[in-house]
Amino acid sequence: MSRTLIRGGTVVSTTGAQLLDVLVDGERIAALLDPGALGADLAAGVGTVIDATGRYVVPGGVDGHTHMQMPFGGTEASDTFETGTRAAAWGGTTTIVDFAVQSAGERLQDTMAEWHRKADGRCAIDYGFHQIMGSVDAESLKGMSELVAEGVTSFKLFMAYPGVFYSTDGQILRAMQSAAELGALVMMHAENGIAIDVLVEQALARGDTAPYFHGVTRPWQLEEEATHRAIMLAEVTGAPLYVVHVSAAQALAQIAEARGRGRNVFGETCPQYLYLSLEEHLGAPGFDGAKWVCSTPLRARAEGHQDALWRYLRTGDVTAVSTDHCPFCMKDQKDRGRGDFSKIPNGIGGVEHRMDLMFQGVVNGLISPQRWVEVCCTAPARMFGLYPRKGVISPGADADIVIYDPKGHTSIGIGRTHHMNMDYSAYEGFEVDGHVDTVLARGRVIVDDGRYLGRAGDGRFLKRELSQNLL
Ligand code: URP
Ligand code: ZN
Ligand code: ZN
Repeated sequence: MSRTLIRGGTVVSTTGAQLLDVLVDGERIAALLDPGALGADLAAGVGTVIDATGRYVVPGGVDGHTHMQMPFGGTEASDTFETGTRAAAWGGTTTIVDFAVQSAGERLQDTMAEWHRKADGRCAIDYGFHQIMGSVDAESLKGMSELVAEGVTSFKLFMAYPGVFYSTDGQILRAMQSAAELGALVMMHAENGIAIDVLVEQALARGDTAPYFHGVTRPWQLEEEATHRAIMLAEVTGAPLYVVHVSAAQALAQIAEARGRGRNVFGETCPQYLYLSLEEHLGAPGFDGAKWVCSTPLRARAEGHQDALWRYLRTGDVTAVSTDHCPFCMKDQKDRGRGDFSKIPNGIGGVEHRMDLMFQGVVNGLISPQRWVEVCCTAPARMFGLYPRKGVISPGADADIVIYDPKGHTSIGIGRTHHMNMDYSAYEGFEVDGHVDTVLARGRVIVDDGRYLGRAGDGRFLKRELSQNLL
């Protein structure tokens, strides 16, 4: 592969924005140069020149939380590794970390082998895996060390979904003890699932069966309580803790408080919690609210959660923004919950739109361009042991690069920008400033000017290190 020069753009990193030319050699970034400073010796080997004048040059996005073709809610997430990673590439994401799922009675190693089979040779972009532990027992606790040696260095546990993925506090404590010994990261779905199940049963008995009641039966208090409990269990064991898909302001306050005490506690949120709400979306007329059933749920705008999340994003108490991409179609999938919201498969698709939706936060003056790059690219790479190979434009890093037009425009929706395998868009009709113009993955242009130039199988499995983000 020859050399590529990206000329005239503004390279945005976590620390600044600077006019620089970027020289790519094969799959890696070779040099950052003052504009026009490329010497004759280096220029000789340059086969492709990309003019990025007036545009941002940023690291490829790292989405640390996706669920491609995950069996869940009696069905399977509708994006395969092929369709989902292609959609991610369209949106400027060049790395995902997906979840292998262990259900009760399965061996961790078998489920990991199954996820490798699903992804191998099909991905458009590079990918790693976390492991969901749906059954914490002596065998799975032993299996954690093998996975860490294979580059799977994070384990998700659930305080929600009794009878599916739920772990008791005792199981969580044991898994955290093992994680602490290994230096591995515990990811937590923090909602009090036992209490939620009672509220769900009572709502259904009252005849409150519409999608709106999915949100009502998962109140913020049960997210705050579980988040607090997870933090305390992590403190007892010394395990680093990353709380996934945080939607309640009060849960983030718990995380901020623990961080203030110097604990290795991190929070992630997702665009759906920053833009969508219980009132407008889950509460949409008829059965339409099913499109936005996910857990944790969308929160009431009137309660101020969205504003608080943006604030915590600015202050650094939200470490990373992922999508929790878990798409289902309305037809035959979300439909299963007509007349009973508890049967609606939980999940929202959005892997394609994270970079654009978060750039809107820059346009709206809520975060800086540097923070945009940090939460979408650099921090998730560090959090999940991929830095400095991913998440940064610097010599030696993989040449995963997005040329982003801050003056461009993106219309989100079916028939506009939508490459995910879903029959609706959770962000239908959103008009956002900014546009992903060109995407390079390990030095190859895979998206350019509205054309997809990549192939299934371009993406490789990433063996991850331990988290590089600990306090
Ligand atoms: O509703 C969600 N979040 N679905 C995906 C599974 C999970 O809990 O992350
Ligand atoms: Zn979860
Ligand atoms: Zn998830």
